[in-house]
Amino acid sequence: MSSLVGEVAGSAVEGREGKGVRDGFTTGLGVIAATLGSAVGLGNIWKFPFMTGVNGGAAFIIIYLLSTLLVGLPVMISETMLGRKARADAITTLRKVAPKQLWWLIGASGVLAAFLILAFYTEVAAWVFAYIFKAAFGEILSTNPEVTSAAFGSLISNPVQSLLWQWGVLVVISAIIIAGVSKGIENTTKRLMPVLFLILVMLCIRSLTLPGAAQGLAFLFTPDFSKVTGATVLTAMGLSFFKLSVGMGTMITYGSYFRDDQDIPATTTKVMLADLLVSMLAGIAIFPAVFAFGFEPGAGPSLLFITIPAVFASMPFGNIFMVLFFILAAIAATGAMLSLLEVPVAFLTEKKNYSRVKATLLTSGLLALIGSTAALSNSTLSGVTLFGMTFFDLYDYLTSNILLPVGGLFISIFVGWVWGYKEVKQALSNEGVLNNEKIIQLFFGIVKVVTPILVAVVLLNGLGVLEELLWLLHPSL
Ligand code: PFF
Repeated sequence: MSSLVGEVAGSAVEGREGKGVRDGFTTGLGVIAATLGSAVGLGNIWKFPFMTGVNGGAAFIIIYLLSTLLVGLPVMISETMLGRKARADAITTLRKVAPKQLWWLIGASGVLAAFLILAFYTEVAAWVFAYIFKAAFGEILSTNPEVTSAAFGSLISNPVQSLLWQWGVLVVISAIIIAGVSKGIENTTKRLMPVLFLILVMLCIRSLTLPGAAQGLAFLFTPDFSKVTGATVLTAMGLSFFKLSVGMGTMITYGSYFRDDQDIPATTTKVMLADLLVSMLAGIAIFPAVFAFGFEPGAGPSLLFITIPAVFASMPFGNIFMVLFFILAAIAATGAMLSLLEVPVAFLTEKKNYSRVKATLLTSGLLALIGSTAALSNSTLSGVTLFGMTFFDLYDYLTSNILLPVGGLFISIFVGWVWGYKEVKQALSNEGVLNNEKIIQLFFGIVKVVTPILVAVVLLNGLGVLEELLWLLHPSL
């Protein structure tokens, strides 16, 4: 333990790139903005509202909240805590807190997951960025979903456009990452998060003041427990992982930039609640408008890129609101992508001693290459499949169903069973400064027992193993 303290203290002064103090978030507000920037993403704009609507409204929100409290948040606290303790990238953090053991593999799986998520997330972000311009020039302004569907189809099936927009996105996030943790990530998210809330509130007001809005609110919020099944619970749990950006090294990396005096349980809880608020506001901005104009709420990309443009085209000043909507989505996606890109960049700068510019250019270059397989999944490579999935779907499946839950499972086991209560209490009380023992005890109980069991269930289910296990136990089921 004392050697760990020595290492940690050493790393804080030794710094990255040998330039003195290690870069990190400078203010409490900056910590919240950056962390919230990572949590808020495309997940809030189409995953959460739609899943809530089809899975029983308020009933789903309650289950999602429980999953978040029992799984997402404990893993988020664990990752942040380990990152701050070691003050290092995802892999080195695990090497420092568990020297000479294999736990560093969690960090390695995190770096890989960040990379693979970026490979397809940058493409969805590419469509969002493209849509800001298409909306501004009135190219997608049609009340007919067949027309908006054709417009979306022509974008994603065009290999040149798909690649160029994705590379454009990579250039934007690389430039911010190169600027550094405080000057790049913190400054950008501190500016963008208030804009995001402002646009969101404007869109909510517009949507709620449309005649017929009540039906959309009912779709979103009427609690219907009859729609809740085992699968609903698993969906909610998977969503809480993706939403809070955990299970893949992001929060370890961001935790390493947290200030020493930051109250980790309080900060992460605030971020979780603010993220939930954004998700609910997104639902309020979208569904009342969808129902007011008699559209069917579609899932995923079709809601975002086909239904939404048709909905906005149906309302007065819809053009302006459509541009605002896609700016909102672009801001959300940008904060999330910054946190993803920072994971491999932090690893390369600290472990391999690369300069930040070199690490970012190398990662982005590799991403442009691997990401192009996702970008071309709807055009040139649409016929190429692995395990029955296009590259785009494969990266999504591999990360959401395997790498993230595996990462979360092992992090909770490590914290609960290997690191132990004494270390956790030291770390979460800021070495005894904070008086939060009750909260730490509650957290520890959950992370040691409840979280691993629940995550193991999600994981086995995602792999289709659970059904077979149940069948082996009770063949009659
Ligand atoms: N939390 C982001 C969203 O809800 O869109 C997605 C995400 C970002 C997942 C960062 C994982 C991550 F590391």
